[in-house]
Order: sequence, then C-alpha cells, then structure tokens
Amino acid sequence: MGLVALGVTGGIGAYKAVEVARGLQKRGHEVVAVMTHSATRFVGAVTFEAITRRRVITDQFEDGMNADIEHIALASTIDLLLIAPATANIIGKLANGIADDFLSTLYTATRAPLLIAPAMNTQMFAHEAVRRNLDTLAARGARFVEPGEGYLACGWIGKGRLAEPDEIVAAADAILRPEGPLRGQRVLVAAGPTYEDFDPVRYIGNRSSGRMGYAIAAEAARRGAAVTLVTGPTTIEAPAVREVVKVRGAGEMHQAVMARAGGMDVVVMAAAVADYTPVNRAAQKVAKDADTLTLVLKKTPDILGELGQRRLAAGSGPVLVGFAAETEDVIAHASAKRERKHADLIIANDVSRTDAGFDVDTNAVTIVAASGAESLPLQSKARVAAAILDRVERLLTSRAIKA
Ligand code: C5P
Repeated sequence: MGLVALGVTGGIGAYKAVEVARGLQKRGHEVVAVMTHSATRFVGAVTFEAITRRRVITDQFEDGMNADIEHIALASTIDLLLIAPATANIIGKLANGIADDFLSTLYTATRAPLLIAPAMNTQMFAHEAVRRNLDTLAARGARFVEPGEGYLACGWIGKGRLAEPDEIVAAADAILRPEGPLRGQRVLVAAGPTYEDFDPVRYIGNRSSGRMGYAIAAEAARRGAAVTLVTGPTTIEAPAVREVVKVRGAGEMHQAVMARAGGMDVVVMAAAVADYTPVNRAAQKVAKDADTLTLVLKKTPDILGELGQRRLAAGSGPVLVGFAAETEDVIAHASAKRERKHADLIIANDVSRTDAGFDVDTNAVTIVAASGAESLPLQSKARVAAAILDRVERLLTSRAIKA
C-alpha cells in the first residue's frame, strides 16, 4: 500500500478528484491532497480533508509551517505523485521546472513516479505548446491517463475531459502495486442477485447481497488483476476495479458475461442468477383483482453451464469458478454441479446456516475441485475470497506450466 500525493489543479473536473481519493483509499492507499490555489475555487479543501483525514496542503506559505521542510519531507515519503485533473498550466510548469507553488515544488523535489490525468479544452489539449510539454514529461518518465472525448464543460465536443475516476485509480494502483500475483490477468466476477420483472413495478428476486462476489473482485484487483465486475442490483458499494457493469435481470447478466468472457483468464460466477424468469412482462401494473395470481416462468440461460460448454468445445478458455448454494448434501451436490457445468472450482455454501451465506459478512464454504473437496472454517468473506483466489492462482500456474 502506498502514500499518494494527489495534486488537484483548477479544472472543472476537480470534483472528480474526490472520487479518485476515495478509490485510492478503497484499494488500501493513503492519500494526501495538495490543491493549487485555483483548485480551491472548484472544490473546498474541507471535502478532501474529511475524506483523506489529513490536512490538505493548499499553500506553500501557510502560517505555522516551515514550507521548505514540509515539501521536502512529503517529497521523500510519497510513493506516487498523481495529478488529477492536470491543467495546461501545471503541465507547463512541471515540464519547464517552474516551482512557484507547493504542487510544482513538490514535483521538482520528489523522485516518486508521476502520473498525470490531463483535463482541458480540446483546443488547449491539441495546442503545440501543451503537446510539447506533455512530450517533455513523457520523456522524463511521466505516465498519463488520457482524457476522454465528449461534451466538455466549456461547450466544445472533443478530447479533453478528465478520465473517469475508476480509470485513474486503476492506473495509479498499477504503478503502486507492480508485483501483484494476478498482474496481467483479466478476471470477470459476476455478483449480486438478478431481478426478474413481471410488470413495471414488481419483480422476482433473491436474497443475495453481492458481498461475496464484491470481496472476490476487490481481492483480485488488490492482487493486480484487471477486474470486470458484472453486478446485479445491490445496496453495497462496488470496489474500485477496472470496469463495473450494472445489470438487472438474468438475461442482461447473461449478455454482459458472454460478451466479455472470451477475453478473460478467469470468470467467477458468484452471482445468484435467477433460475426462472416470467415468460411475459406486463406493460402495465398487474391489478390485484383476483385472489390468486399465476405467473408462468421459464428457465433462464445457465451462464456458467454455457461458459463450460463453450470452453469444452473450444478446448481452451478461462478458469471457471461457480458457487453452489445448498441446504443438504452440500459436497455431493456441489461435486455433481462442477462436473455438469464443466467448471474448475465450485464453492459450496451451506445456506441453511445463519452465520454464513446471505447478507452476512462471514461465510463457511467448501472448495470443490477435480482433485477433491476442502472445507474452510467460518471466516470473513474477504478471507474466503483470498482462499478462493489462492486456488485460482494455482490453477493458472499449472496451466502455464502445461502450455
Ligand atoms: O445450477 P445452480 O444455479 O445451482 O448453479 C449455481 C452457479 O451457477 C453459480 O455460480 C451461479 O452464479 C451460476 N448460474 C449461472 N446461470 C444461471 C444460474 C446459476 O451462471 N442461470
């Protein structure tokens, strides 16, 4: 885990830096915010102070602090200098060694890597002076999170909008954590319940909170993987991962997973995908005239089963991990499921226990593999996630040896 100096300069995207700070913290990094004078016109220093729980540096010459010592002390302790958003002004100053405020002084004083997320008007971004300054910084080893294209606050359409916070956090994390055991691996985790609508206001759902899947996604990202989280509706906060795809029904989840699975090294189906969905979805709210209501349901596509079939047919494909929520004969049922779905691992859950499974932070699972079953003690979902990923890593290693 590293200490990041988050430089915030005076662009309209400055408010997004708040999300960047939070995202870095979620990945276990410490953040100290350094704001330029103009940045404070866009976002209050108090916001960053509340989030980072550290004093925000806004001025080189604050009363009661020895500026020389402060910037030198910080310069030698930070692991990364991240500037988001970076205006044309700060880019120009850094490229040319101008050190006239705390942030630009910190740059010249530190030997920590520099990551810049530029944000400015399209014309400014394309200007020769800015291009040259960016090239100068790149030649010095600076890394960049490219701005996005689209409508800019200034009314222009084009390149210049600050990259999304998730992307900036992922880029920073990759620099801070270069040696994670899952570095270079692409991991898709499907999590949460699915909601099957049968009229515009009602649905059939289930009790999955998404916690187990989110813990796996977070742990995989911590180990350096590029994680895509496909999630059904949940009330918990998504971890900072490369991509979060929000879906509602089993059909949508099926589409989202199948469209991405081909490019993945690992797919973990931790979602409680509805097994049945209403055949018809009423266009209007179903009236409660009758004493009973009959819904006709049809089977949803078995995503994990389909991935298993696809891999079997192709002869190669991602490592496949599924879950089995069982109430009796847990290991026998899970082993049969593993074979039926052609998965590598099935994580069997006894959902009849109250201290494991739905909506709690702990879980007791048995990991069922081709080589046998291993029961883990009751522990936090974060630790269960780590144990599952240890097994996944071993599978990836043995594949690499065979290949
Ligand atoms: O067959 P069963 O629903 O018990 O299998 C559970 C496993 O299969 C879980 O990993 C779940 O995410 C996955 N699943 C799926 N598609 C479905 C139903 C379950 O991928 N339609």
